[in-house]
Amino acid sequence: MHEYDLIAEWYASKRVDETGVPEATVLASSIPRGSFVLDIGCGNGIPITRALLSAGHRIIGLDSSSAMLAQYRQNCPEAFAVRGTVECCPFADGAFDAAVAWGVMFHLNPEDALRAIANVSRALKRAAPFLFTSGDVDGFDGKEGTMNGVTFQYFSYSVHNYRRILGDHRFTLVDVHADSGNNTYYLAKKN
Ligand SMILES: C[S@@+](CC[C@H](N)C(=O)[O-])C[C@H]1O[C@@H](n2cnc3c(N)ncnc32)[C@H](O)[C@@H]1O
Repeated sequence: MHEYDLIAEWYASKRVDETGVPEATVLASSIPRGSFVLDIGCGNGIPITRALLSAGHRIIGLDSSSAMLAQYRQNCPEAFAVRGTVECCPFADGAFDAAVAWGVMFHLNPEDALRAIANVSRALKRAAPFLFTSGDVDGFDGKEGTMNGVTFQYFSYSVHNYRRILGDHRFTLVDVHADSGNNTYYLAKKN
């Protein structure tokens, strides 16, 4: 998705809140310090990668936007930055101790979302947590929305379907909750 290349500066000026940090911090404290964590759709690294680094972990940021990654490299020089998509997830099997995906799964159409979950499962170690945000009802048609004049598409599965799909890919869904901004958080654990 290259739409984020068009809004990278605008996004940085708006994403000044701490949304997602409490959930990322809980995940960070559930794994040993120094763990390898994949931040999927890492954007410019603020605030999620920054929070994970502060917890003492080693972070690999994956994002499809070169403009977002240029900012990421400046904001989080201690992290590794990789340009690519989660549906092609260019990492070795069992490479990571945890994965986080804040604000990216809902941009994937239903087929790509399945590929993404399969790839994340493959790239995680056994018992590793995977935290992601999405919607909570089925939406397969790519509802359109705009950010700074650029059109984006949004998709989701329902909680019921995410639970089933995660189960099909060696995950157990252990928590679902929403924050005050209507982001639904899914915390899954690889079996
Ligand atoms: C809403 S932003 C979230 C950025 C960051 N996680 C945050 O907390 O602000 C979504 C990010 O996902 C990236 N992205 C979109 N589709 C992607 C895909 N298929 N694979 C990897 N990254 C993707 C975008 O380039 C963008 O940086």
